[in-house]
Amino acid sequence: MTELHSSAPPAVVRLAEYTKTDQTEILGDSTDPFGVADAGLTWLPKKDHFGIRQDGRLVAHAGLLPLPVSIGGVDTRVMGVGGVAVAPDLRGQGLARAVVSAAVDHARTLGPRYGLLFCRPALVPLYGRLGWRALERDVHVEQPDGPVIMPLRTMWTPLRDDADWPDGEVRLLSLPM
Ligand SMILES: CC(C)(COP(=O)(O)OP(=O)(O)OC[C@H]1O[C@@H](n2cnc3c(N)ncnc32)[C@H](O)[C@@H]1OP(=O)(O)O)[C@@H](O)C(=O)NCCC(=O)NCCS
Repeated sequence: MTELHSSAPPAVVRLAEYTKTDQTEILGDSTDPFGVADAGLTWLPKKDHFGIRQDGRLVAHAGLLPLPVSIGGVDTRVMGVGGVAVAPDLRGQGLARAVVSAAVDHARTLGPRYGLLFCRPALVPLYGRLGWRALERDVHVEQPDGPVIMPLRTMWTPLRDDADWPDGEVRLLSLPM
């Protein structure tokens, strides 16, 4: 029998904090572990953190941060998901699915109708497997010198059963997460 994932989903815990050292424990100390340095963006740290430990080692993380956004001229809030990271030696085993699902499950309890994330184009199919949808329009985000068009892909996921992404211009009214 071929089994890709172990039968019990990995246990995700809420982390009291998530430091640069924690990120290095997962991803190593490469200068550009997320592969987004080319974009030259300034990012916000996340507020809530979800992680997986194996034998005391932090091996996966996903972060959450509520963010103000304007969609079609209507101000609302989205739950930003970011800092998704899995230790290189443990990829392909469902750990990203587990931490992102835990973050999204928590986000559902917080009020906003949508989750939002930014990713490299190569990760769009992966997040698609996790129930995220690509937003096929430019998204403006704040940067220290003013708004720019996000050069990465933007994806969203409904946090309520009836949530559909509205039409209209999308402006994140903060730095991205
Ligand atoms: C991106 C990353 C988090 C993925 O972690 P992972 O643990 O290997 O991902 P998972 O094993 O949970 O895979 C998630 C799903 O995507 C699927 N998937 C993986 N690669 C895929 C691909 N190229 N195309 C389509 N689906 C893919 C998996 O099969 C799985 O779906 P399933 O559970 O239905 O089988 C990991 O590679 C990483 O840490 N990369 C470096 C940091 C980074 O770039 N983070 C993303 C920031 S946005």
